[in-house]
This record gives sequence, C-alpha cells and structure tokens, in this order.
Amino acid sequence: MTLFRQLGLLLVTPFTQNLMTTESCLSNNFLGNYQDAGTIFTIHIIRDDECLQASSSRLNSAHYGPAPDPREQLVWLEKAAIDETLQAHIPQSKSILNELLLSLQAPVIQDEPELQKIMSSHATTIPSYNVHYSTDTAALISLDSEKARVIDTLLPPFWKSKLLPTAPSTYLPIPTAAIATVKTILTRLKFDPVVASIVNNISVPQIQNDVRFLTGEDGKSGIISRHSFSTGAITAANWLRARVEDTGATCRLSPFLPGFAPNVICRYDAIKDTNATVLVSGHYDSRGSFGSIRAPGGDDDGSGTTGVLSIARTIARKGVKFHSNVELAFFAGEEQGLLGSRAYARELREAGANLTLMVQADMTAYRAPGEPLQLGLPDIIGSPEVTQLVANISAIYSPELTIGFTPACCSDHQSFHEQGFPATQVFERAGPIADPMYHNSGDLSGREGFDLQQLYAIAKVQFATILHTAGYEL
Ligand SMILES: *[C@@H]1O[C@H](CO)[C@@H](O)[C@H](O)[C@H]1NC(C)=O
Ligand SMILES: *[C@@H]1O[C@H](CO)[C@@H](O)[C@H](O)[C@H]1NC(C)=O
Ligand SMILES: *[C@@H]1O[C@H](CO)[C@@H](O)[C@H](O)[C@H]1NC(C)=O
Ligand SMILES: *[C@@H]1O[C@H](CO)[C@@H](O)[C@H](O)[C@H]1NC(C)=O
Ligand SMILES: [Zn+2]
Repeated sequence: MTLFRQLGLLLVTPFTQNLMTTESCLSNNFLGNYQDAGTIFTIHIIRDDECLQASSSRLNSAHYGPAPDPREQLVWLEKAAIDETLQAHIPQSKSILNELLLSLQAPVIQDEPELQKIMSSHATTIPSYNVHYSTDTAALISLDSEKARVIDTLLPPFWKSKLLPTAPSTYLPIPTAAIATVKTILTRLKFDPVVASIVNNISVPQIQNDVRFLTGEDGKSGIISRHSFSTGAITAANWLRARVEDTGATCRLSPFLPGFAPNVICRYDAIKDTNATVLVSGHYDSRGSFGSIRAPGGDDDGSGTTGVLSIARTIARKGVKFHSNVELAFFAGEEQGLLGSRAYARELREAGANLTLMVQADMTAYRAPGEPLQLGLPDIIGSPEVTQLVANISAIYSPELTIGFTPACCSDHQSFHEQGFPATQVFERAGPIADPMYHNSGDLSGREGFDLQQLYAIAKVQFATILHTAGYEL
C-alpha cells in the first residue's frame, strides 16, 4: 500500500448500483462510467488512507494500480459497437495499443490552419502514454493533457476516446421521486390528436436544407468541419443560436473549456410558475477520417442537431407554449468524450435544477439497405423509465419505426444520467452501428442510406416526448 499512499489508487471496477450506494468511499471518488464490450465499469482515484483501507477488499474484483501523475490526463479508449458488416472492412488487430500506434504513424494531412497548428505540434510524433487497463476492446491510458485533447483525431476508425474528469465527483443515483414523475407521465400517456398535428408539422424539406448547411454540402455555409476546434464549429454554433432565437427562444453560447467551440443552450420559458424543465439535445461537433480535415458529420450528429432544430422551427410555426420550461441544447466536445454535456449537466446539478427528463438524439438518419425505419434505444446507459416512455410515445406518434435496443452506447445523455437526472438517447438502429461512414469524411446527407424520413420520424418522437412531459397550449 505504500506506493498507493504516495500516488493514490486507481481503481477500475465493474459497476453495480448497490456498491455505489453503500460504499461512500467509492461513490465520493467517482470519475464516471465507462463501457467495455457491454460491461459498465466505474473508475475511481482514492487518496485518503481510510478509503484506501476500505478499498483493499475490492481489489480482487477490480483492476487497480497506482494513480497517474495528477498533471497527466486519463483517457478511456473504447471500440464502438459496430455491426458485422462493418467489421469486415476494418483491419483486424490484436490490441488497441497496436492500432493506436499504427494510426499515430500514418501521415497527417492538414489544411485548416487552426487544426493544423494543434496537430503539427502534437500528432506527428508518437505521444508517450501509460497504460492502466487494457483489453482487446478498451484501454485506460494517461498522457500529456495537451495531447489528450486531440487524441480523437489520431484514433483508428471505430475507436472512441473519452477524457476523464480532472476531479472526482460524488455518484448520485437518480432520485426515486424523479423516476416516479416519469412513471406517472407514462401511466397517463394516450394518443393526443393535437400532439399528432403539431409533431406532423415538422418539415422534411427544411431539415434537408438545414443538414446541407451544417455539412457544407449546400456550398453556402463554408463549413468544412465542425470538429470542436474548427472554425466551422463556431459558424455552426452562431447559426444554430440565431435560427433558434428566430423561433422565440432565448439562447446563449456557453463555453466550457478553452479552445473548444461552445455549447448552444436555448430555452422557452414556461407560461406557468414552475422550475420543472424538459431538455432535448443533439451534439453539433463532428469527426472525420484520420488524416483528413473534412468532417461533414451529416449523420453524426447533423441528424440529431437538425431534428432538434426542426422542433424549434415547428414550435414557432404552430405557436406552441409550454407548461414547463423547455430547453433545446446543442453540445460540442461530444467527440472528445461528452465534454460539453458533462459541463452543462454539472452546472444544472450545482444549480439544483429540476430536470424532469432529457432525451439526446445522436445519429438518427442512417438506414442500412433492406432494413425498416428504426428507433434504437440504449440497452445499458440511461434511465429505463425514460426509455420506456420514449418507446411508447414512438409507438403512438411514429408507428412507422421498428423499435429495439442498441449497444451503440453513450452519447451526451450519459452526462446527465451520471449527474442523477432521468435521461435516454434516440438512435437510428435496433442493433450496433451499421453506418459505413461513421466518423468518416464521407458522412454526407446526399448519400445512399441517409434517410430523411427516419430522421423526421425520430424527431417527432423527441418532440412528442416534450409535449407530453412539459404540457402545452396553442
Ligand atoms: C407501453 O407499451 C407496451 C408495449 O406496447 C405496453 O405493454 C404497455 O402497456 C405500455 N405502457 C403504458 C403505461 O401504456
Ligand atoms: C405546418 O403548419 C403551417 C400552419 O399551420 C402550414 O402552413 C404548413 O403548411 C404546415 N407544414 C407542414 C409540413 O405540415
Ligand atoms: C419540480 O417541478 C415540479 C412541477 O412544478 C414540482 O412538483 C416539484 O416539486 C419540483 N421538484 C423539485 C425537486 O424542485
Ligand atoms: C423549485 O420549485 C419547488 C417548488 O415547486 C421548490 O421547492 C424548489 O426549491 C425549487 N428549486 C429551485 C432550484 O429553485
Ligand atoms: Zn455522435
């Protein structure tokens, strides 16, 4: 224990709700949930003596070692849940570390000044890093924090990175009262013809225009990339803010980390006196192929972003007013590990916000050849009660969608779930990711499989969830 006493103990342990609620030592030193091949792990750094003693009994079931130098950034790397049809297209390699090394050796071609500057100073050499945990499908590494910020641009396709928080927080389960509220909404759920007429008013041609602006396919926006550090992300943020303000909302650009494009947070105040708030969101930042600056992000997550924007446009067209506060959020920093949403979820928790529920839309447009229109709901991270509510709402207002579960895990809803808010995600497929253009510079809207009708049907579900949860008037 002497080494751990000096540096602290880094603990990676399979998540169980019970463990987290009964062992305050673990729940107070919480660095988040992470997944590896369908299992959820929690990560902790433990520095105080008493907690070290209490944790020694845990060590049999946990991966552990000395904590890294506090100046180093911890990064969780994981292989995304992808369909067999995509597995065939990627080089099979035994270990993540090999893949990472290979990708770091590939030539870097950059043409946008800002990114080029960052990447030329960090990415052309192999960064040194320490490995704290690794399997064929995930790893926990620590490295220089500046290099960690750009690690998403260095990863092989289908690998994702998540920067861990620099300070631990306290794990907070979703309060039973919050779950009871969601259950009550589900119990009272029945078809409402007015809700149907509102959600059916979402305009598909408008969504198409909007997504073509964000991808740069319309030739008007000048957007090449919406990577969190790109100028295109700033263009997108200002545009989203202006478009949603046009619909009568109050919006703000909310910076969360130096160098990152800001979150765009928009709000429609309730017409009643309440602090209850319903949140729906997407992430507007994007990722492209390794070595290419182009990151159109048409499906990931131009689809969720324009779905949320279509809700705003319809609120204005129909003159909808809400009984609860309604927020529409467009996050950045998702591709670096849910960083924008993490900051906003923490902010809401610190303010004691009364969030009834939140629904994140991430990748809603891609439909593989021969498959029906689908709605995928998260099978591990998320609140089952919110997921059930969304499923039942989908059956009522978008019966064209076949509903099922997906292991494609962990978009921005995870940030809210970890802060004790009821949350879920809507996704394009009842199964793993099948989009061959995932995290690829070819993720455009004008391609085979990019299905605006599915995007529309899923946006209707998100919108009907707001209307049933918040209550409304015309
Ligand atoms: C939700 O949908 C399921 C499946 O159709 C159904 O069995 C259940 O009764 C519904 N729940 C409510 C509360 O309506
Ligand atoms: C939406 O409603 C407005 C006014 O009620 C109507 O003019 C418009 O055509 C409708 N659009 C769609 C796509 O249904
Ligand atoms: C949240 O808002 C609801 C509806 O106004 C209210 O009944 C409830 O007490 C509020 N909860 C908290 C924790 O403030
Ligand atoms: C929200 O409103 C409830 C009463 O409806 C109140 O008890 C609670 O303190 C309020 N919360 C905040 C953060 O203002
Ligand atoms: Zn995404």
